[in-house]
Amino acid sequence: MSKSSETVLPYRLLDAGEEQKLELVGPYKVIRQAAQAFWPKMGEPHPWRDAIDGIHIRTNKGGGYWDYKNKPPAEWTISWQNFLFRAKLTDFGHIGLFPEQGHTNLDWITEQANDPEMEVINLFGYTGGSSLAAARGGARVTHLDAAKGVVTWARENFELNNLADHPTRWIVDDATKFLEREVRRGRRYHGFILDPPTYGRGAKNQIWRIEKDLIPLLELIKQLADPLHFILLSCHTPGYTEWCLRNILHQVFDLPLTQIEGGEMTVPMESSECVLPSGTYARWSKQ
Ligand SMILES: C[S@@+](CC[C@H](N)C(=O)[O-])C[C@H]1O[C@@H](n2cnc3c(N)ncnc32)[C@H](O)[C@@H]1O
Repeated sequence: MSKSSETVLPYRLLDAGEEQKLELVGPYKVIRQAAQAFWPKMGEPHPWRDAIDGIHIRTNKGGGYWDYKNKPPAEWTISWQNFLFRAKLTDFGHIGLFPEQGHTNLDWITEQANDPEMEVINLFGYTGGSSLAAARGGARVTHLDAAKGVVTWARENFELNNLADHPTRWIVDDATKFLEREVRRGRRYHGFILDPPTYGRGAKNQIWRIEKDLIPLLELIKQLADPLHFILLSCHTPGYTEWCLRNILHQVFDLPLTQIEGGEMTVPMESSECVLPSGTYARWSKQ
């Protein structure tokens, strides 16, 4: 059965369990890995066998491929958290947004980034979910990612949301190298958003390892923050619990622990009252 990709439908997490998640990405029903879903599938009222469009299969090398039952178009538009997003199914098993950020952090970012004079930088910005939230608040935005393709994708998402004219800088670079240059140039920022991967590659193939590179990156942020208005640090790395992230912000920025919020990033499931845990965050705001 063909499905219209013209009607804009939302992202929905239908169910999760047995290390998988069942999602509707607009009109398309897909199954992906969910590393922390250690409980049985609920299933009802969302059967896992009916009308599946694609199942992502992860391969040993870290990437993967889609096993399609009904191949979706190359891209289509979905809605999520009051934003429009271009959705695509990538070989890596990504869909173009990280839903856990939406349910946990996007409204908070919009509330913090509420001053048109404020400079906000989103490092590891991917397709721009957090950058859109900052732009909606009114702040000037610098969106950075090492991958040119996702920076283009983020620009398209800004256009979809009528934010193409918002004061935004688009940077394809390695996060550390760019911040080192910004320190030398004497630039200043007030809001910082970073969701670093466990392992990644910079624009010139620089290797990023969270355990080695995160603290030096935060030290650069400390030099650029004048004054620090807010910082949001999140990640999906096993072992980096909310208290680990809180302690990092406390130690590097000398912020009172009692003023640092933290928790697990989660996505609500439609099949039950359960939520799918998907990473951790810690955040601090002057407000
Ligand atoms: C977990 S995703 C961030 C998701 C984003 N927070 C969101 O909610 O849409 C990590 C991103 O970091 C980027 N990346 C990896 N290594 C990098 C580096 N050294 N410098 C800058 N970006 C990097 C990847 O290209 C990827 O887009």
